[in-house]
Amino acid sequence: MKKGGKNKNNKLNNKGQQNQVSNSQSSLNPAASQFFSQAKTEEEKLALLELLQKKLQEKAQQKKMEQENQDKHQHGAQCSHGSLPSPQISHEQLHMPQQNNSMNFPEFQEPTDAYRPEHNQFLQDEEEFKHFRQVVCSYFNYRTDSLKEVARMERGYHNIGANKSYLKYDFNQRLEKLKQAIELNAQFLDRIVESYHDVAFVKDPVTKVEYIPQEYVQFRDISKLRSTLKQMIRDWSEEGKIERDLCYKPVLEEFKKHYPNHIGADGKRVRALFPGCGLGRVVFDFACLGYGAQGNEFSYHMLFASNFILNMMNHAKEYTISPFIHSFCNTFQENDPFREYKIPDVNPSDCLNPEMNDDFSMAAGEFVEIYKKQPEEWHGVCTIFFIDTANDIVEYIKTIHKCLKPGGVWINLGPLLYHYAESFTEPSIELSWDEVQHVIKEVGFELTIHPQIKTHYATDPNETMMKIEYNCVFFTAVKK
Ligand SMILES: C[S@@+](CC[C@H](N)C(=O)[O-])C[C@H]1O[C@@H](n2cnc3c(N)ncnc32)[C@H](O)[C@@H]1O
Repeated sequence: MKKGGKNKNNKLNNKGQQNQVSNSQSSLNPAASQFFSQAKTEEEKLALLELLQKKLQEKAQQKKMEQENQDKHQHGAQCSHGSLPSPQISHEQLHMPQQNNSMNFPEFQEPTDAYRPEHNQFLQDEEEFKHFRQVVCSYFNYRTDSLKEVARMERGYHNIGANKSYLKYDFNQRLEKLKQAIELNAQFLDRIVESYHDVAFVKDPVTKVEYIPQEYVQFRDISKLRSTLKQMIRDWSEEGKIERDLCYKPVLEEFKKHYPNHIGADGKRVRALFPGCGLGRVVFDFACLGYGAQGNEFSYHMLFASNFILNMMNHAKEYTISPFIHSFCNTFQENDPFREYKIPDVNPSDCLNPEMNDDFSMAAGEFVEIYKKQPEEWHGVCTIFFIDTANDIVEYIKTIHKCLKPGGVWINLGPLLYHYAESFTEPSIELSWDEVQHVIKEVGFELTIHPQIKTHYATDPNETMMKIEYNCVFFTAVKK
């Protein structure tokens, strides 16, 4: 799915959640940035910023009116597609998908069909399709992009001249190993998107050589791709079990306490929803317990990769990747970044009961947009490292409350590292945990707070000199 402006896309970057965009100007688009830099004094900057915000609001209002007219014209007045969470922010700015497409994993078997615009309403949106293509290109461009890094390191090595003789290790060997590891990762990533080859590649009419037009490759997407590789370790490697046991297991254990039987009194499967489920491991683990499980995700990077792992593996440990080669900082041993990981630790299709097919699905799209239209549908909602991704956390809490059945249970584990906290173009309200608790109760939940959990997020399992530790809040809220 499209995600909002530059800052939004940068949020989950190659340093994990922690690396926020710190320069406010960098979250503006280039034209706005140039506009902003013309101001000399702080006062001038503030005045320009106000003007810019006013202009954005006017544009948003105009866009909204156009959209409403179009909606009425196309779908009749009741259609709520493309409705906006805030009157000041346009669809374009927030990049909310106009159409959502709930996909069952079995349909993923033919991804070419699943994602072709002619088969998907949401890809008929020109903007959406453009974003989709940019993400595909970032996958195919991984090799080229990463080799630029090798060239940078090579220059650094030449730069030290005769000082090379002091080194213990042959630096050229490091570069060779790096190229091999890049190739290993690239082969894995190519496989994930191979069915979308035609979307990314263009044939030169004269030479017939295929290439990816560079305007399709966005730096923010490359960065997100590297995060996706690291996320593979968290979700689908043996080494990731430590993080999974800290982040996913307590949530599933807590759910089991509330619904010990996976079949309800009505004879139907008890079902829970996992918003912002990343690469989908927790959804899979939950389905393996016999419950109905639906993941929800709006990032194409995540959706492509989870589809690949969940539906297209022949056996466990089929692929080998080295996700931590993109930084040599804070390492203890020369070879640490080259550590290889076997993916996936289990083959999902070996573990999952075929009867579960109808009850194990992934809904692609923005969480609020999809689930505000599903009142009292779910027995449970499990949010892990998710609620801080909101522009408006109150809206998330209200949506969770709305889509739960009466007596339904919301279990949350994660920090409050608000994703839009430093954005000038995206709204954000950074509520404290104290305030969040109040909102949860006000919205209509009975809240039970569990002891906090210290954990990492998609971190290098090697010992390194820097690891970010989160002190996560963990709670259960029952809908009154
Ligand atoms: C920090 S990651 C956590 C992923 C996973 N829950 C885990 O613990 O590994 C947050 C995820 O939520 C997704 N996300 C953020 N906002 C979303 C929204 N409004 N709707 C659906 N997914 C969203 C992001 O794409 C990202 O994959």
